[in-house]
Amino acid sequence: MKVAILISGTGTNMEAVIRAWQQGKLPGVEDIPIVLSDTPDAPGLEKARRLGVATAVVARRPKEPRESHEERLLGALAPHGAGLLVLAGFMRVLSPFFLSRFPGRVINIHPSLLPAFPGIDAQKQAYDHGVKITGCTVHFVDETLDGGPILLQRAVERKDEDTAEDLRLRILKEEHELLSEAIAIVSEGRSSIVNRYVKVERSHEN
Ligand code: GAR
Repeated sequence: MKVAILISGTGTNMEAVIRAWQQGKLPGVEDIPIVLSDTPDAPGLEKARRLGVATAVVARRPKEPRESHEERLLGALAPHGAGLLVLAGFMRVLSPFFLSRFPGRVINIHPSLLPAFPGIDAQKQAYDHGVKITGCTVHFVDETLDGGPILLQRAVERKDEDTAEDLRLRILKEEHELLSEAIAIVSEGRSSIVNRYVKVERSHEN
């Protein structure tokens, strides 16, 4: 399966996925033909190029309707034949129009244990709320904000001495592993969804 990665920012999750694939840890992934950003100066673009992966930028123009921007995103993706889209810090909610073109084939990484703390700055939301345990989630994307069926989650403990930044970085480290694990599952066809519950078959290696 070919996998396209969509980013808006730093791209550390994207980098972790590309490295895992280049190290042969994602056998179900035939190629990562494109990293697509909606943000022209996203630092992740340079990271992708250094890793030898092609990049494209499709920024939303001032006052451009969402559907028109999404049509251009789809146009940029079309030549690459991706079977899976991975949102790795891509900070836009995709419309049903866009998602209908990739049904059940878009996943997102989010830095909290959903459904707690959807939206932006989830780590800080959790920190400010005073939670003892937070974490990260990879979920299938639907038209709701961070609300689609949950594929994988990993818990991260907040320590007494943590700053918000300490907690963010500890979550991010777990995200880097969790996202590749999720891509392995989807690319090897090891997930199925019944009543929102995503059942995952173990790989033969585990
Ligand atoms: C990650 O923490 C990711 O979970 C989050 O943005 C960060 C991107 O970092 N995504 C969301 O909050 C989506 N709702 P990265 O660009 O270094 O991978």
